[in-house]
Amino acid sequence: MICMVMTEDLQCLKEIALMGGCTAQVWASSQTIGSALNISPQTASRRLISLESQGLITRSIRPDGQYISITKEGEGALRQEYADYCRIFGRNGGHYIIEGTLITGLGEGRYYVSLPGYRTQFIEKLGFEPYPGTLNLRLAPPGIQVRKKLDSLEWITIEGFTADERTFGGARCLPCTIQSVQCAIVVPGRSHYPEDVIEIIAPVNLRNALGLDDRDTVIVEVSA
Ligand code: CDP
Repeated sequence: MICMVMTEDLQCLKEIALMGGCTAQVWASSQTIGSALNISPQTASRRLISLESQGLITRSIRPDGQYISITKEGEGALRQEYADYCRIFGRNGGHYIIEGTLITGLGEGRYYVSLPGYRTQFIEKLGFEPYPGTLNLRLAPPGIQVRKKLDSLEWITIEGFTADERTFGGARCLPCTIQSVQCAIVVPGRSHYPEDVIEIIAPVNLRNALGLDDRDTVIVEVSA
């Protein structure tokens, strides 16, 4: 769960990210961070302590200095900032950002996604074989607003079918990404979910691949 992070701490976090801290451990002293941010080494050191105590970075001290890496929570805080800027500057170039909170659904996703009648269409139309299940995200009001705007985009139609004397309804899909993983939003024709929940399918188990848990903030990106 990402809490409110102070602006000064975010600036420091961003600097570490620019040094490569989201993907690797980076060597950085309070001196180097201080001069990059135009603050004293003492202030930089306090910021690092603050970031560490909030679980946004981890640090290891070695003989040659201090190695810093940004945690999943730290990256989430930066992504929230990114989502805010995307909102400020509009949907330029048809880019939409939806922020949601991971929840556990009704446990039906696995069954439906596994049905050959749907699965073969997902493979053919989306270009990936989906992990059997759907990732459910609850949207806050700003996310619901963006979600509504997506209705005007071109969705991929998944046809309904009949199997074992049962009729299965159609659905529509919209390709998207979560942390660069190719996914798709799926909206069943007859959705029993309220409008504040979206369901995502992906070629991988996103919880495992991205280290996600219930109540984590997840950013979904759609490029029209
Ligand atoms: O509906 P519910 O969330 O209970 O589960 P499901 O749709 O049957 O999916 C099984 C589990 O896999 C859930 O914990 C989903 O959140 C997760 N999942 C995932 O991590 N990545 C996906 N691409 C699809 C589902």
